[in-house]
Amino acid sequence: MRIGILGTGTLAGALGQGWARAGHELVIGGRSQVKAEKLAERLGHGVLPVTPREAITGIDAVLLAVSWDGVEDMLGLAGASDGTLEGTPLIDPTNAVAHGVGALLTGHGESMAGRIAGLASKAHVVKAFHLFPASQWTSPPGGGGQSRVTVAMCGDDSAALHVVSELVRDVGGTPAILGTLDRVRQLEEVAGFVIGLTFAGFDPNSAVPHVPSSAVS
Ligand SMILES: NC(=O)c1ccc[n+]([C@@H]2O[C@H](COP(=O)([O-])OP(=O)(O)OC[C@H]3O[C@@H](n4cnc5c(N)ncnc54)[C@H](OP(=O)(O)O)[C@@H]3O)[C@@H](O)[C@H]2O)c1
Repeated sequence: MRIGILGTGTLAGALGQGWARAGHELVIGGRSQVKAEKLAERLGHGVLPVTPREAITGIDAVLLAVSWDGVEDMLGLAGASDGTLEGTPLIDPTNAVAHGVGALLTGHGESMAGRIAGLASKAHVVKAFHLFPASQWTSPPGGGGQSRVTVAMCGDDSAALHVVSELVRDVGGTPAILGTLDRVRQLEEVAGFVIGLTFAGFDPNSAVPHVPSSAVS
């Protein structure tokens, strides 16, 4: 696939590394061209620095790897409101949560994925990759460094969910579709729950029951 990454920070670098290693063609656009050039050089594999506009043009999937409060600016820089992303999977990994607390900063009942869908005209938004730290994606799949994890996602378009599922597998995850964007607020709350417990000194894994999947089938 040809993948566009918007953002040049930690998550852009981690997923960029995983997808480049899996053989995808990557372009990276940031608000700083210098940072895009540095990240592309670090990733190697023919990854190219481009403008945000170029990072969403003629692309099979786009990752919006920016801080939640930079989403509107970045989509504006890319010109996402003009329909360029029509039918394109747009992956939203953002966490709009209060640092160290985990409370969501979006309005009551509002989701980041819904906000992004409103800003990126006709894109097929898929919420994914928001729950695990970026370091989860930097070891080669099956390399023994990390255990296999389940990536829960929400989206309205089945073809886009299929594309993102492939991208999850490419970095060693197992995709799990929770539902449509009607349920995405729930998925965003889970990240707040995990972040809140972690900062309070608890292992979030110990705060949910271990239910074997066979018990619910
Ligand atoms: N890191 C993780 O472990 C992780 C895991 C899951 C989800 N996430 C989510 O993924 C997203 C990116 O996280 P990150 O860790 O990669 O963050 P990061 O390293 O701080 O990078 C943030 C990126 O957003 C850009 N940005 C910030 N404000 C902007 C604005 N107003 N306009 C345009 N670009 C702007 C930054 O550009 P500059 O460098 O030019 O400031 C940078 O490229 C966040 O929403 C985060 O919640 C992160």
